[in-house]
Amino acid sequence: MSTPPAGKLPLPELAAMKRRGDKIVMVTAYDAPGARFAEDAGIDVVLVGDTAAMVMLGHEGTTVPVTMDEMLFLTKTVARAANRPIVVGDMPFGSYQVSDEDAVRNAIRFVKEARADVVKLEGAGPSVSRVRAIVGAGIPVMGHVGLTPQSATMLGGFKTQGKTSEAARKLLDEALELEAAGCFSVVLEAVPAPVAAEITRRLTVPTIGIGAGPDCDGQVLVYHDLLGLTEGHLPRFVKRYANLSREIRDALEAYAREVRDGTFPDERHTYAMPAGELAEFSATTTAEAAR
Ligand code: KIV
Repeated sequence: MSTPPAGKLPLPELAAMKRRGDKIVMVTAYDAPGARFAEDAGIDVVLVGDTAAMVMLGHEGTTVPVTMDEMLFLTKTVARAANRPIVVGDMPFGSYQVSDEDAVRNAIRFVKEARADVVKLEGAGPSVSRVRAIVGAGIPVMGHVGLTPQSATMLGGFKTQGKTSEAARKLLDEALELEAAGCFSVVLEAVPAPVAAEITRRLTVPTIGIGAGPDCDGQVLVYHDLLGLTEGHLPRFVKRYANLSREIRDALEAYAREVRDGTFPDERHTYAMPAGELAEFSATTTAEAAR
């Protein structure tokens, strides 16, 4: 891979943050304004998540339908606007499951066409060999274990993972395998806090938690969830820092009301013209109308 652009947070800094005990802050983004807000807030890592399927593209309760082309389009817009944060392109379902070759080809598209800095993929098992192949091609990979939404059907839905001793042990082994395969970081989703804490202790690469308690090396939340743009049921692990859907609804309703009752636009939102020019224009149109 090439030298990172000036101002970009160097990838090894994430491991250094883990060693120093500095928390890593990650958020999803799907467009240029979101990426700019994240950058200005000092966010370290921006994930163009395949949650785009649900929060951007209107698919209900599943990330599976989002395509490579859709993810590349969204990642391009984010990468254009995010200078310092590391931009993670989330490999959609179907883009890496079939073979290592497919996985490498699609990871290359993320960095070459969409200008992602790194990619993320879900699961262990066959994904471990995909990670090895992509890292072998020079592209850094973030792993993701626990609740892996692309395989939610096999997991019995969007459920907490690793709640038995055996399942917790399996999660630890998967995270260790992903680290050994070359992942620079691993996302732990919907995992009991003590299990995530143990995985975090055992890994030398940073863990990023979502619903995995306070002891992970960093945290990630979905942009729409934390800003209150998502309506309806939210997982227990989401904390809302704003209620933007309420503000957007109020603003749109006020706009519609004011257009209908003639309050908008008023003088402050209207262009005037010099009185002499207006008089001449009126004289011309009056003369035309009289003909
Ligand atoms: O797609 C996504 O947004 C994610 C996060 C929830 C980690 O994978």
